[in-house]
Amino acid sequence: MSAQQQYLHVSSITSPYGGYSQRVVPPEDAELTHTGPGTPCGEFMRKYWLPVCLSDELADLPKAIRILGEDLVAFRDGNGDVGVLHKHCSHRGTSLEYGIVTDRGVRCCYHGWLIHRDGTILETPGEPPDSRLKDSFVHGAYPTFERHGLVFAYMGPPDEIPPFPIDEQYQTPETVTKAYDIWHPCNWLQIQDNIMDHLHGVFLHGSGLKTVPNSDAEEDPTFSILPVLEHFEVDEGHGMIYVATRRMPDDMIWVRCAQAVLPTVFQAGVLFEGADQEGIRRVGSTRWVVPIDDDSCMIFGWRHYNDAVDREGEGNPEVIGKESVDFYGQTGGRPYEQRQRHPGDWDAIVSQRPIAVHALEHLGTTDQGVTMLRRTLRQAIRHELKPSENGSSEPGGHKHRVYAHDTVLKIPARDGEDDQEFLRSVGRRVTEIIVDTKAETVLDRMDEIEARLAQMKSEFLERPTT
Ligand code: FES
Ligand SMILES: [Fe+2]
Repeated sequence: MSAQQQYLHVSSITSPYGGYSQRVVPPEDAELTHTGPGTPCGEFMRKYWLPVCLSDELADLPKAIRILGEDLVAFRDGNGDVGVLHKHCSHRGTSLEYGIVTDRGVRCCYHGWLIHRDGTILETPGEPPDSRLKDSFVHGAYPTFERHGLVFAYMGPPDEIPPFPIDEQYQTPETVTKAYDIWHPCNWLQIQDNIMDHLHGVFLHGSGLKTVPNSDAEEDPTFSILPVLEHFEVDEGHGMIYVATRRMPDDMIWVRCAQAVLPTVFQAGVLFEGADQEGIRRVGSTRWVVPIDDDSCMIFGWRHYNDAVDREGEGNPEVIGKESVDFYGQTGGRPYEQRQRHPGDWDAIVSQRPIAVHALEHLGTTDQGVTMLRRTLRQAIRHELKPSENGSSEPGGHKHRVYAHDTVLKIPARDGEDDQEFLRSVGRRVTEIIVDTKAETVLDRMDEIEARLAQMKSEFLERPTT
């Protein structure tokens, strides 16, 4: 009997002290979690532009990186252009991280071969002058570009290179965008699972655990209120959103929507919502989860700062960068006892095991977002999703309109009305407006969204008494 069969055989045992019956840990879901060369998920991810390091990390020295289980080296040549090469020199395998960066490429430290960022071998200085060796092959290289402080590489088939996703929020003229990264010693999917699990905010970030001894973690009072929570596939399953609608003090309703785009993009609205002022606030962060290998990954992200997403005193652009972002509990660099007494996302996610074992989970109704994410990811890996005009898992279709937002509306509850059901209807109407509004520019789209939200609000204020 295999370990998996043995586990399945005993998993229905309900007797107390059942540890012995559950001592066998079954394997992880390899189809969704393994991303090395040749794996189904790894080949799927390779069809997209992925961040691989921060622009700031590439100065006069090459940087060894590992992405999707491939050992690579990134460097900025003397002309300022970025290259991403296979790490081991094509001559005899020395790591190019010890190489010398030149105007035309990186020169291996061992025997001086000079390799261009496109993989062309430019010089083999120890070979005879008439040697044709360097013209007989190329070194492994990937296309790159930089945007807002992140270096992106495309590691897929050269004839399927996609455009970069449309990133409408950056068209707002006053937006300042800053890049950061955070290392996680766990599988990439745990990070994506976490962001589609909005309910954890009530307990991990809010005051939902107030009655538990020692649970005096930093609290966000707005998150501590239980939301009416719904999840929707968007863009033919290439994306999904959660919609969390809460009744807040002073007759306010807060609708929060965050968006995942397959395979690894996530966008959220604001990070610090007091829900005490009416209005719509758009994208505060955009991030990618990029596998290093199967049991470690990087978050590469952008924080966006403008009047629409950050009010005075909320965020702190000064701290954004290497292993640093301006919200609590996102890194593992804190003392162990502090992390035990004040755990954050990093602690909750990384401690699920290096690769979380889905077969050991007991998912409930509140895990609908996690279930939906895994289902659509599996469909995309298997090429079962239809193409989408917006987000798409197919080559050439990787672009997306942004749905993430936080919207606050003052609409009082009514005596005799089921307020939870009313909140649900408000959340759904707001979501319809956001998803359906398709103007050409971000500013036109915002104007249209705001007009439709105002109309919707007046309709709700005038709703007939039940
Ligand atoms: S190993 Fe790189 S030049 Fe010889
Ligand atoms: Fe969180």
